[in-house]
Amino acid sequence: MEFILTLIYLVASITYILGLKMLGHPKTARKGNLIAAFGMGIAIIGTIFIYPKEVPMMIYVLIGIAILIGTIIGWLVAKKVAMTKMPELVSIFNGMGGASAALIGLIEFHHYQGQTLSIVTILAGLIIGSISFSGSMIAWGKLNGTINKPIRIPKYNIINNLFFIVLVAFAGFIAYQGIDSQLYLYVLFVGALAYGVLFVLPIGGADMPVVISLLNSFTGLAAALGGFLYGNMVMLTGGILVGSAGTILTFAMCDAMNRSLSSVIFGAFGATTSTATDEASRKIKGNIKETTPSDVAILMNYANKVIIIPGYGLAVAQAQHIIHELEELLIKKGVEVKYAIHPVAGRMPGHMNVLLAETNVSYDRLIEMEDINPEFPNTDVVFVVGANDVVNPAAHNDPSSPIYGMPILEAENAKYIVVNKRSMKPGYAGIENELFYNQKTSMLFGDAKDALGKLVSELKNM
Ligand code: TAP
Repeated sequence: MEFILTLIYLVASITYILGLKMLGHPKTARKGNLIAAFGMGIAIIGTIFIYPKEVPMMIYVLIGIAILIGTIIGWLVAKKVAMTKMPELVSIFNGMGGASAALIGLIEFHHYQGQTLSIVTILAGLIIGSISFSGSMIAWGKLNGTINKPIRIPKYNIINNLFFIVLVAFAGFIAYQGIDSQLYLYVLFVGALAYGVLFVLPIGGADMPVVISLLNSFTGLAAALGGFLYGNMVMLTGGILVGSAGTILTFAMCDAMNRSLSSVIFGAFGATTSTATDEASRKIKGNIKETTPSDVAILMNYANKVIIIPGYGLAVAQAQHIIHELEELLIKKGVEVKYAIHPVAGRMPGHMNVLLAETNVSYDRLIEMEDINPEFPNTDVVFVVGANDVVNPAAHNDPSSPIYGMPILEAENAKYIVVNKRSMKPGYAGIENELFYNQKTSMLFGDAKDALGKLVSELKNM
């Protein structure tokens, strides 16, 4: 029986690696997800039914009920969630992973007394899992707008760091002294939860995606510690994969925003935002030019090359289908059409790729930032749809801007720029955008779905 279980774990581990690899491309992502989910399924079933240990019937019943409740909630929530709410869902799921790891610590602490290495593993899993849980809940609140401002107490960096050091020292004390106390364990648990809150609360603005992937890697690490504790290879592999994938993503996001991880955690992105916004607004002078769907249709009809820059607003408006229709229409008219994808466009990693893949936009048309930027100077029309920060030239031109140094899509280099959004309101980072005041820019105001609908019907009549 043990051999069969080992075999199941091996197969499951392979499916995780295969699934993760397949998630790297939209064409194979869905299948990859299913393969990894299958692996997780057999690992769970194998663990419940083949694990070579006597388990009372009642435990099976409880596990069954828990799985049933979890499956129903997970299924319903995932089915119902709107694309724009996906990052919130990811942070809740991630938080649940952290909570599970923390629960393992709370339950197993007393069972491993006298085995220092195991106790250290348990306490580390408890701390990391708890931080991941409470941090993810705060991130969830921030993403859905319940917590709409970074909350910073004076000298929060120093306080947070001291708090963390005290927390680790306390855990070290428990392990070193071999203290088997429920009270001490709960104090550590509550302390770690509090640290998770203190850690995420001050982080604001455009830095949230980095924090979410960082918390994701924490959950992976906590799960891997659980795998190490139980000598369970599949838990260890799964945890390490989540931990390392989360870490790689964290650094990739930092790179995409030209921020170091320490400046995300310790620097106050949002704190500088209001003064910088005022300063940027003062600096930006000039008028905006408003345009109409029929004028944009004429412009595009006679263009040789159009680059579409999708952003968060495209997802909000659910305008992915209509933009695909626009693309197909233009291609029929002999126009070359590409999409320029910024790594942090939208509200989650790969948001635009997922959104456009849903409507079957050919993946070859989605071009990444480094590859598309040199193409803007010989592009007739850049069409910015519901994007803002990712095309803000302040990132290049204004050293006082909070996004200074962040790589952007260089839309300003094209011959004409058309921007579709509903108003002159700033984007996620809360700063003004001088691109809208550029002589070459025309603003097509309106909800993306409406505006694109009108544009498509104008083009069809040409
Ligand atoms: P944003 O800078 O947030 O700009 C989106 C724009 O879409 C807004 O200015 C908004 O203007 C417009 N909009 C909203 N609803 C619309 C609708 N129904 N129709 C048309 N336009 C609409 O988005 P972005 O350029 O994609 O940049 C992403 C930002 O989010 C970056 O700052 C990034 O760091 C941050 N962020 C990214 C992630 C990830 S991982 N991708 C996660 C969290 C945060 P109006 O209100 O005037 O319409």
